[in-house]
Amino acid sequence: MEAFRYMNGKLRCENADIGKAAAAVGTPFYIYSRRAFADNFRRLDKALAGSRHIICYACKANSNLSVFRLFARLGAGADIVSGGELYKALKAGVDPGKIVFAGVGKTEDEIRFALSSRILMFNVESVPELNLINDIAGKMRRKAAVAVRVNFGFDPHTHGYINTSRGSKFGIDMSMARGVFAYAKVLRNIDIAGLHSHIGSQITQTGPFVRNLRMALSLAESLKELGIHLRFINLGGGLGIAYREKESPVSVSSVGNIFRKLLKNSRRYTLILEPGRFLSANAGALVTKVLYAKESFGKKFVIVDAGMTDLIRPSLYGAYHRILPLTTVRSPLATVVSVVGPVCETGDFFALDRKMPVPGQGDLLAVMDAGAYGFEMSSNYNSRPRPAQVLVSGSRFSVIRKRETRADLVRGE
Ligand code: LLP
Repeated sequence: MEAFRYMNGKLRCENADIGKAAAAVGTPFYIYSRRAFADNFRRLDKALAGSRHIICYACKANSNLSVFRLFARLGAGADIVSGGELYKALKAGVDPGKIVFAGVGKTEDEIRFALSSRILMFNVESVPELNLINDIAGKMRRKAAVAVRVNFGFDPHTHGYINTSRGSKFGIDMSMARGVFAYAKVLRNIDIAGLHSHIGSQITQTGPFVRNLRMALSLAESLKELGIHLRFINLGGGLGIAYREKESPVSVSSVGNIFRKLLKNSRRYTLILEPGRFLSANAGALVTKVLYAKESFGKKFVIVDAGMTDLIRPSLYGAYHRILPLTTVRSPLATVVSVVGPVCETGDFFALDRKMPVPGQGDLLAVMDAGAYGFEMSSNYNSRPRPAQVLVSGSRFSVIRKRETRADLVRGE
C-alpha cells in the first residue's frame, strides 16, 4: 500500500495526519514512513532471493540514525563513502562484516578506521589508493579485502550528474582493469575479494543492470586465468523510482529474475547491491507552508518556507518532484505557477511553470519522494537552520532529528 495517501481529503503518512505533525513540529520538516522503508527493503530482498546476496544500504541517501537502524535491523549492510558514514553505520548497529567502502578519495585516517572496524571490503578506485591500503594494512598487520571498482564505460541512460560511466572520475577504466587485478595479486596485504561496478543512479530500465552483470561476470571469469578467484560481485546501486505520475520504476522482480539466471552457473559469487534511492525515496516527503503568492511579468509565484537548502534536487538536477496539498481543494482550478523558496538564488525552486491548483497563503504542501538525497544534501546557506525529521509508524509519529536552532548556526565559529 502507498505510504502517502488521502483519507477524507487529508494527506496521511501511513495513518498519521501530516497536518497534525506540522502543528506539532512546525514547518518545514521531513516526514518518513517506517513501513515504506521496510516494504522497499523486503521487496528487493525477495526479488533477489534466488541468488546469494547482501543488500548494502547506500546511506548517502538518508543516514538519519533511526532510518539507518531500521535497515540494519532488517539485515541490511551498508555502502559507505566516508569515515563519517562508517561512524554512523557502526552507531546504527550495522554488522561491520557487511560494510563496503567506496569513493575515489579515501584518506589515510579513513582507511585505518575502516580496517580497525573490520569492514567487509574496500571498493578500490585507483592504483595509488590500492598501494596506500596495502601499506596501511601491512603496518596494522592486517590483510585488507578489496574489490576493484571497474568502470565499464557504457551509457546507463540517466542524468549526466549521476552517471558514473565513461568520462567520470569513478572506478578503473575497463581497459586497465585486468592489469590492476594482476597487480593487486602481488600486493602482500591485499585480499582480492571481488569486483565492483556502480554505473549510475536513477536508472529505470533493466537493460543497463543486465549489461553490467554480464560484463562483470565475463571479467570475473577471465580473471581465473590469472589465478584470481573472486567471491563477490558488487553491482552498486542505481535502481530508479517513479518521480512522475506516469513514470514506471525499474522492475526489481525482473531484475532479480535475470540476475538469478545469469548467476545460475556461477554459484561461487555472492552478489552485492548498494541501493539508496530505491529503499528510501518514496518513503519520505518534505512538508512546507505557503508564505506568499505574487505575480511578476505575468508569472505566478507561490513562495514557500522550504528552499533549496532543504531539498536541492530540483535546483541541482532539474529534478521533478510531485507537490501535493495536505488538504484537497473541492474544485481545484489548475493554473501555471512556480513554487519557489525563500533563498536568495534564482535557482531556488521546487517546480517551474507547473500546472497545479494554486494553494492559498498558509496552506501546507508536501514535496513527494524526498526520502532519498533530501535532508542528506541540505545545507545552512543563507543561515537557515536545517529542518526537523519525523518518522511515522502507524498513526504515531516521533521526531528523529530536531530542527536546528539559530544557536546551532554559530556553534564552532
Ligand atoms: N553505490 C555507489 C558507489 C554510489 O555512488 C551510489 C550513489 C549508490 C551506490 C546509490 O545509488 P542509488 O541506489 O541511490 O541510485 N544526489 C543524487 C544521487 C547521487 C548518487 C550518488 N551515488 C540525486 O539526488 O539524484
